[in-house]
Amino acid sequence: MASHLIGIDVGTSSTKAVLIDVSGEVVETIVPEYEFQTPRPLWAESNPADWWDAAARAIRALLTKVDPASIVGVGLTGQMHGMVALDGNGDVLRPCIMWNDQRTGKQCEAITEKVGAEKVIQLTGNPVLPGFTAPKIAWTREQEPEVYAKIAKILLPKDYVRYKLTGEFFTDVSDASGTSLLDVANRCWSDEMLAAMDIPASWMPEVTESDVASTKISKFAAEATGLPEGTPVIAGGGDQAAQAVGCGIVGEGAISATLGTSGVLFAHSDEYRVEPEGKLHAFCHAVPGKWHLMGVMLSAAGSFQWYRNQFGKEEMTAEANGGPDAYDALTQLAAETPAGSEGLLFLPYLSGERTPYPDPNARGSFIGLSLRHGKSHLTRAVLEGVSYGLNDSLTLMRGLGIEPGRIILSGGGTRSALWKQILADVFGTRCEMVNAAEGAAYGAALLASVGAGVHSSVEEACSACIRVTDSVDTSAEREIYEAFYPRYQALYPALKDEFAALAETVGGQAV
Ligand code: XUL
Repeated sequence: MASHLIGIDVGTSSTKAVLIDVSGEVVETIVPEYEFQTPRPLWAESNPADWWDAAARAIRALLTKVDPASIVGVGLTGQMHGMVALDGNGDVLRPCIMWNDQRTGKQCEAITEKVGAEKVIQLTGNPVLPGFTAPKIAWTREQEPEVYAKIAKILLPKDYVRYKLTGEFFTDVSDASGTSLLDVANRCWSDEMLAAMDIPASWMPEVTESDVASTKISKFAAEATGLPEGTPVIAGGGDQAAQAVGCGIVGEGAISATLGTSGVLFAHSDEYRVEPEGKLHAFCHAVPGKWHLMGVMLSAAGSFQWYRNQFGKEEMTAEANGGPDAYDALTQLAAETPAGSEGLLFLPYLSGERTPYPDPNARGSFIGLSLRHGKSHLTRAVLEGVSYGLNDSLTLMRGLGIEPGRIILSGGGTRSALWKQILADVFGTRCEMVNAAEGAAYGAALLASVGAGVHSSVEEACSACIRVTDSVDTSAEREIYEAFYPRYQALYPALKDEFAALAETVGGQAV
């Protein structure tokens, strides 16, 4: 009987489950959706029961395609940084506080002050950021002491689904890297951070490398999903690390750029490297014994979506009446303007920014408008501004000695041939696309293939299953972007104080 693998990605608004065969071909993908809650401004919460329900439903649906006994491994991935708090009976104590929740600014400051800014980076590779897990634990202690008093376990989202599948508490090093509690250099929980925050070590799940078959499907989960009891469940990884595995980013110099709502620049690193000011995330990779550096931009394709919704009404109406896709129509219009948009620059900080400027007050801007500029210029400037923003992360990586031979592009934004060309020219690097369309879930299935013994290593799984499907070389326009990029780079420092003052003025008006 042919063997199969399942990858499950516990996402923000849906759980994606993908079924692959051992050659890496996708047999079926199922994506049940759910909603997350924003009970207050800046808050984002999700109900872990929704993830489990979606995962169990998706697995049952996948198992209608193949014999359940053919599944040799299940790999898990998911949204990182979320805090799932369980009591001593394994019951969820409150909704998960998610990665995009911004309520913990004060707690981050307090932890940083207590431990010391440099020491935090020394212990965990990263500054404590509001989205990360540890400040959420501190927030719960301060704001919900009755919940805090009952905590017996803290899990990340995918590891809650693992708990439901296996009855066991495990995580992996890549996902644990985003908690502010992992000693990223040594790939184990940081006793010093746990002690500084008064968090009992017993609250943390056991942490392993990502390709380890750490757990097995329980009797309870066998009944809920149709998977045979005892099927191996592989540790898996955080969604960005698993996505990178799914794109073959598993060797020194391998870099990917993902243009989703947010934008991610991800670099594999054979060594533990840290950006001295902590501007890039330094996390363990899902490849055993390796690390990665990552820059996260909050509004990448999201900037273009905002632009289409506000200024592409004509194109959207045409699309609704059977015309071309509105994004395609807009990028065609953008192609009428020369590279550099005749001096018009766009800052993509529509939701504040994370890398390289962790600043919730940063705002989007068009700079350099003249009477000459029209819609075509504005459109092209948005595509170029997002590309410059991603290049900020690449520039930091180059500063640490990482030099890509090529960059693998993925995400919805890379459907546009023009945007791909702009990216190759702004990066100054050939860009390639690969066959893995199912993102992090596919990477989790590849990790499962290693844990199940189908492949001997993550690198081998990637070279067996991932191939280049398209590429774009740099063009003569590279020189134009080289001239404009320093102008883009100068804008945030020049505007930073004004962004802060503007936020205060707006805040004052709201009171
Ligand atoms: C990674 C990050 C997001 C979330 C949600 O640092 O914040 O990728 O994991 O997808």
